[in-house]
Amino acid sequence: MTPFVSATIDAEALRHNLEAVRARAPGCRVMAVIKANAYGHGLIEVARALEGADAFAVARVDEGLALRKAGIRKSVVLLEGVFEPEQLAAAAAAGFGLVVHNEEQVNLLRQPFDSAPFEVWLKLDSGMNRLGLKGAAFAAAHAALQGMPGVRHPVGLMSHLASADLKDDPENALQLERFQQATAGLPGARSLANSAAILNFAEAQADWIRPGLLLYGVSPLSGVSGAELGLRPVMTLHSRVIALKEVAPG
Ligand SMILES: Cc1ncc(COP(=O)(O)O)c(C=O)c1O
Repeated sequence: MTPFVSATIDAEALRHNLEAVRARAPGCRVMAVIKANAYGHGLIEVARALEGADAFAVARVDEGLALRKAGIRKSVVLLEGVFEPEQLAAAAAAGFGLVVHNEEQVNLLRQPFDSAPFEVWLKLDSGMNRLGLKGAAFAAAHAALQGMPGVRHPVGLMSHLASADLKDDPENALQLERFQQATAGLPGARSLANSAAILNFAEAQADWIRPGLLLYGVSPLSGVSGAELGLRPVMTLHSRVIALKEVAPG
C-alpha cells in the first residue's frame, strides 16, 4: 500500500547544499551537524549522502555509535561530550572527538586509558549561556588538559554565537571579542560558526564551520529563503487531500 503521508529525502540536494556551504566558507573544514536524527532527515542516510564532509557532529554518544554500527568511519565529534566513564570508554573505542564544556568533563579525561588520545574541543561560553566554560574557568580547563596523555594536542577551541541570525545584534561582536581574548596565543583549531554565523560573520568561519540548517536547505535568516541562498530543499512532504468542501462566504 502506498503510504498516505511520506517524506522524501533528496540525497543529491544534501550534496548540493554541502557544496553551497563550502563555497561560502572557502578553506574551512566542514563538521556537518547531523544530530537529532539529522534534524529528522534520517541519521544514517544523511551521513552516507554527506560523505564529502570533513567530519560529523552529533550530540550524544549513542548517535555516534549508530553511525559506527552502520559502518561509517568518518570523524565524529560529540557536541555534548560524555558524562560518565562508560560513555568515555565507548567514545574511546569508537574514536569519537569530544566537546568538553565543564569541569566534570575535564576531570573524566584525567583517568588513564589505553586507546589513542582523544580529539578534544574545549568550549568557551562566550555569551550564549548554554554550554561552555567562561573566562577564567576556560583558561584553567585549558591548562589542566595540557598535561593529560589521554588528550590529543593541541586542543581545539570552540564557541557558539547566540544571535548570529541577527546581523546587527551587538552581542555577536561581544562574543567574538570574548572568544579572541580567551584563545589569544593558544594553538589549536578554532570553530565558532553555525549556519547563521557562516552567512553573517565571515570572521567567525575560522578553521571549522558547523552547519546544520543550511545542509538541509533551510535558511536561518528571517525573510530570506533557502532558494535565495542557493540551497535546495532536502525534505519533501507528500500527503493527499482527503476532503474538499465548498462553503458560503462568512
Ligand atoms: C554546537 C552546535 N554547533 C552547530 C550547530 C548547527 O546549528 P545550525 O543548525 O543553526 O547550523 C548546532 C545545532 O544546534 C550546535 O549545537
